[in-house]
Amino acid sequence: MNLEEQIYIRKSCRNYSDGAVDMDLIHKFMESAKSLNNEINCYWEILTRDKVAVRNSWSAPYYLAIYSEKKDNYLTNIGFIFQQLCLCLQSMGIGSCWVGLDVPKRKNSEFVIAIAFGMSRDISRDLSEFKRKELSEISDFEDEKLIPAQLAPSAINSQPWYFKHSNVGFDVYQIKHNILKRQILKRWNPIDVGIALAHMYVANKHSFEFEIKDNENIKGYSYIGSIKI
Ligand SMILES: Cc1cc2nc3c(=O)[nH]c(=O)nc-3n(C[C@H](O)[C@H](O)[C@H](O)COP(=O)(O)O)c2cc1C
Repeated sequence: MNLEEQIYIRKSCRNYSDGAVDMDLIHKFMESAKSLNNEINCYWEILTRDKVAVRNSWSAPYYLAIYSEKKDNYLTNIGFIFQQLCLCLQSMGIGSCWVGLDVPKRKNSEFVIAIAFGMSRDISRDLSEFKRKELSEISDFEDEKLIPAQLAPSAINSQPWYFKHSNVGFDVYQIKHNILKRQILKRWNPIDVGIALAHMYVANKHSFEFEIKDNENIKGYSYIGSIKI
């Protein structure tokens, strides 16, 4: 299973068939998924479509409902852990899409977000079909090492990540939006940054380290953490 290759072909899938998915694969993969912070307890359950209040105009046969303890950076941690699963599903021919709009009909207060998934023939694309910011827009200077992050999916494709070079990798920031955009994206943007960090981890598996230093925010961006790659 090569997860890194999936970064360059994955697309958010909104067109599913009703084929069965081997859920054991998910359970097994999740035992090896890396987290940013092991001290944040998170858990998940698999739901069929009838157990989900679907607000999107499309639906999937299955949904992964994700729950977490609400500690510092828990949203970024969730994006980081579960994007690894999306890449794993992709490598097995299973489509997925993060869904901010669809929520379990029965959930508890620790519910964070869901991921729609299922069998599909419409899960990959050519690199030229990605609609993403230029590398020079997401960093203090253009650097091809950031292509995996550049290609990460994000809520309404907002791509809220910003990377500043450090001696060993990057300091990672999240864009501060105006009030209007912030209302919509405040819950999802930290997840988006975690997703981009998952791509950086998968592409630099042996060297990747994450730590939170006492860096200041910079104009227009909030500091999230620093990565060594
Ligand atoms: C946190 C998050 C929430 C999302 N919520 C939805 C959603 O509710 N409905 C939907 O169709 N797509 C949703 N998406 C998918 C994004 O719209 C998609 O990733 C983005 O437009 C880029 O498209 P791509 O992933 O195909 O490159 C979500 C993505 C993320 C990361």
